[in-house]
Amino acid sequence: MLEARKVSFPSPNIEVKVVLPIPFRSGALPAHSVEGRQGQGYAEHQEIGPNRFARVHGGDPLLRDDPETAHPETLLGPFRVSLPALDQFPHKTWARLVSRHARNMSIVLMAYGDPAGYLPLRQAIADYLRTARAVVCDASQVLIVSGSQMALRLCAMALLKPGDEVCVEDPGYPGARSALTATGATVRPVPVDDEGLVVRLMGSGKHSGRLAYVTPSHQYPLGMSMSASRRLALLEWARHHQSWIVEDDYDSEYRYASRPLAALQGMDTASRVIYVGTFSKVLFPSLRIGYLVVPRSLMRTFIDHREALDIFSPTLYQLALRDFLTDGHFARHLRRMRATYLSRRDALVNGLQRRLPQMLTIANADAGMHLTAWLLSRGDDREVVRRAAAHGISATALSSCYAGKASKMGLVLGFGGADETQIGRAVETLADIVRGVHLGQHGAHSREKRASPRAARV
Ligand SMILES: Cc1ncc(COP(=O)(O)O)c(C=O)c1O
Repeated sequence: MLEARKVSFPSPNIEVKVVLPIPFRSGALPAHSVEGRQGQGYAEHQEIGPNRFARVHGGDPLLRDDPETAHPETLLGPFRVSLPALDQFPHKTWARLVSRHARNMSIVLMAYGDPAGYLPLRQAIADYLRTARAVVCDASQVLIVSGSQMALRLCAMALLKPGDEVCVEDPGYPGARSALTATGATVRPVPVDDEGLVVRLMGSGKHSGRLAYVTPSHQYPLGMSMSASRRLALLEWARHHQSWIVEDDYDSEYRYASRPLAALQGMDTASRVIYVGTFSKVLFPSLRIGYLVVPRSLMRTFIDHREALDIFSPTLYQLALRDFLTDGHFARHLRRMRATYLSRRDALVNGLQRRLPQMLTIANADAGMHLTAWLLSRGDDREVVRRAAAHGISATALSSCYAGKASKMGLVLGFGGADETQIGRAVETLADIVRGVHLGQHGAHSREKRASPRAARV
């Protein structure tokens, strides 16, 4: 049952009608369909990355909405990939650390900072990575940036020129493709299987690729980890061709069936791996702090490019984050979040198995904050996602993760940002949608067959 309610966008000359589904009305959940008046704004999901804003059409496209009030559905809907449990973040502790530093900032700290980042934070990150991820590094190799998206962009600026080829996992993370091609490189999609990137299909000689982008701990989006033999083959590929490997270790802290796997970087004896990490998933995305661990020989180049971009990251958050890491809050938060995500993961897996056993198969749900489920029927995943968005559900179409033609249809479903009750409700809605799309396609298919029996034979 639906209720229509008028709301105003923050922009005074755009008024839209928002239709709210009754079950979601009282929670943080979202407007579910947005109808603009003729010539005015309406919202649309962008599929270039899992964590992007909705775009506003009409009105002035340069006036972006306030993310708090304008399009909460694209930020907070159940199943939004990459969204951590923001409700569980230790706000009080964080606020205490930030305000303590804000009150006591010296004149030196208020001036320009080191483009490589605040040294004590770099030291804390290096300590954490050595212990928790078996990354071989010290603080001199750590470069603080505004999230891993900037890290990937820096890799393109420092390592790639027009015409270079970048090998990417297919399916893979669309945001990496856009960042790594920013300086004129082209993408070579390389298939993945149960062991991760199929290294023997990467080409050789002149066609070997200048750089390979991988998510070995938890392949995005399919969720497997790269096998030891593939890791060795990939390192050998990079050594042999003098190519680079970018390891995106975006959510490896969370594994539910085994201990976290060591990073690929720690196995690299030829200094070919650039390691990328982020606090977006383990803390919160708007913090915009990520980091690279760069081979010593490249560090100067990376720092110069980083300085050319935006000079350095805000010092206040770097100070607070350093304390958060060294005072034990980070380790405590990770421990709590592991239990939270395990329970949310179970709610999603059980819900899908109960409601859609014949229609979806879960690819892998042993790690991270999302899972991918194959659509078994002749399902159009983009249509499912479109319909789900109209109910305030932020699923991602697997087909949008392919650089080339999608070989499989499926849904990428985040389970970090919604609690068990919200997940349960959203699974019910999703199940109806998946069935509806399936029946619609079957209906259309049989109608087609009845209307044109010849066409079916082609
Ligand atoms: C695989 C992967 N890498 C990188 C990122 C970017 O993260 P950040 O917020 O640090 O830019 C994301 C975000 O969704 C992601 O899913």
